[in-house]
Amino acid sequence: MTARLRSRDWFADPARSDMVALYLERFMNYGLTPEELRSGKPIIGIAQTGSDLSPCNRIHLELARRVREGIREAGGIAIEFPVHPIFENCRRPTAALDRNLAYLGLVEILYGYPIDAVVLTTGCDKTTPAGIMAASTVDIPAIVLSGGPMLDGWHEGDLVGSGTVIWRSRRKLAAGEIDEAEFLARAADSAPSAGHCNTMGTASTMNAVAEALGLSLPGCAAIPAPYRERGQIAYRTGKRIVEMALEGLKPSDILTRESFLNAIKVVSAIGGSSNAQPHIVAMARHAGVEIRPEDWMDHGYRVPLIVDMQPAGRFLGERFHRAGGVPAVMWELLHEGLLDGACGTVTGDTIAANLVGREARDREVIRTFADPLKTDAGFLVLSGNLFDFAIMKTSVISDGFRARYLSRPGAEGVFEARAIVFDGADDYHHRINDPALAIDADCLLVMRGAGPIGWPGSAEVVNMQPPDALIQSGINWLPTLGDGRQSGTSDSPSILNASPESAAGGGLSWLRTGDIVRVDVNRGRCDALVDDAEIARRKAGEHPPIPPSNTPWEELYREKTGQLGDGAVLDMALKYRRIAERTPRH
Ligand code: FES
Ligand code: MG
Repeated sequence: MTARLRSRDWFADPARSDMVALYLERFMNYGLTPEELRSGKPIIGIAQTGSDLSPCNRIHLELARRVREGIREAGGIAIEFPVHPIFENCRRPTAALDRNLAYLGLVEILYGYPIDAVVLTTGCDKTTPAGIMAASTVDIPAIVLSGGPMLDGWHEGDLVGSGTVIWRSRRKLAAGEIDEAEFLARAADSAPSAGHCNTMGTASTMNAVAEALGLSLPGCAAIPAPYRERGQIAYRTGKRIVEMALEGLKPSDILTRESFLNAIKVVSAIGGSSNAQPHIVAMARHAGVEIRPEDWMDHGYRVPLIVDMQPAGRFLGERFHRAGGVPAVMWELLHEGLLDGACGTVTGDTIAANLVGREARDREVIRTFADPLKTDAGFLVLSGNLFDFAIMKTSVISDGFRARYLSRPGAEGVFEARAIVFDGADDYHHRINDPALAIDADCLLVMRGAGPIGWPGSAEVVNMQPPDALIQSGINWLPTLGDGRQSGTSDSPSILNASPESAAGGGLSWLRTGDIVRVDVNRGRCDALVDDAEIARRKAGEHPPIPPSNTPWEELYREKTGQLGDGAVLDMALKYRRIAERTPRH
């Protein structure tokens, strides 16, 4: 049976034939015919995230042509439209403001226009969750087409990955090992072609998550942007979405609690970005699925790291793709009995069926469970008197850091450190090298004012590096803690996404420089050793400053958005689900 096409309400509504001419005329003047638009062919939206402002997704301006060819070949009509741009590196005060804005805009487009199904073009970090969140709210057939990572970056014979090379070179700059010209040369070499970040940063992670959720064609996420196969999968994606429109295969048929738990396991196995936590929670909540804090521990934490890719490992996107990409990682999880193979996907087949014959082809890059890079590589969830929820990305914690902080004889997994508290990134940059702070190896760098309300938007600023003098003495890492996020390409051992944030009255608001903070990894605790009377006294006193909103959206965002632990979604939006079932009025 063929599904009802909602575009018929616009173009073939006998009750309002007086309006149809008005609906048709402007489409006719760029080439679509009335016969076509009234013929009952599915109208497929191509949600275009590429533009000059979104260089990571710019490849989609080309790929959309291949998508159109696939759509036409399968008997559909393609209508391409722009999505609010999101570019991680240049957007001030942070691109995190854009995820929910792009979501809102896309919901209105998909609901209010005659679109039967949609191709979500994704790439740069937040373009993926924004599209999936909107597709869930509207609930029309949707398929994810990622643009793919850039080619591998090389600098003087070494692999240099986007983002990761910046964090690593920043330390070398501080240590006086390189100059600024060399810094720029490394950055340029890490980004050699069209595509999104070639590391296992947030972009590669979120596109792997989309694939793990069953929302893109198998193998899509890892194909490098300039490869021949990228154009081919764009064409196949276009063909498949027409079939999905006719089948009526919607996000609500695919996204279940089991599919989100599958995604959490894939994130651990690939050493994925800590930003996967808020994004997965956000996508799940818009899909009506509950992901609880303990799910990260119960389902993700014990999964080993099996993908050797920066920042947790050595390689970059091209090797990962050639090794088999996301299907090969899922194949490994499935054969360990860790994946729910019965989950549905956009192919119309189950995950298990899609994975037949997808074993890894390069065991240097995608390892077996018997020979992992790290065991227990998922996100560690912490709570205590400073916050209710925070995570640590354990896959990037170095052996040296583990030895110094987490392997003290008689106190395995426990350390105490003197807090150095910064109010935002400017405060950090002004004071980090101040000798009066006397920062040494027993300090914990704390960043507050970096959450959804405080920043606003929540910024990737918790991966703070130690003072230059400490780096010059060979200490590259201090533990850090904050109510903001960190870049998915960073290899910093940080306690992140602390919720509630300082600006919402969370515990970081009363923490002071000099307080001792105790981290107990075994019990999942992080507490300031400050007694209750003193905490109460401080809470009654002055609170850290919160900068004013500078745009209307900043103000609205602050008013409506929840905390990172809960996915930082627009809470009022969650009550709108499957809205395509209701036809918008004329
Ligand atoms: Fe856009 Fe990394 S900055 S993908
Ligand atoms: Mg980022």
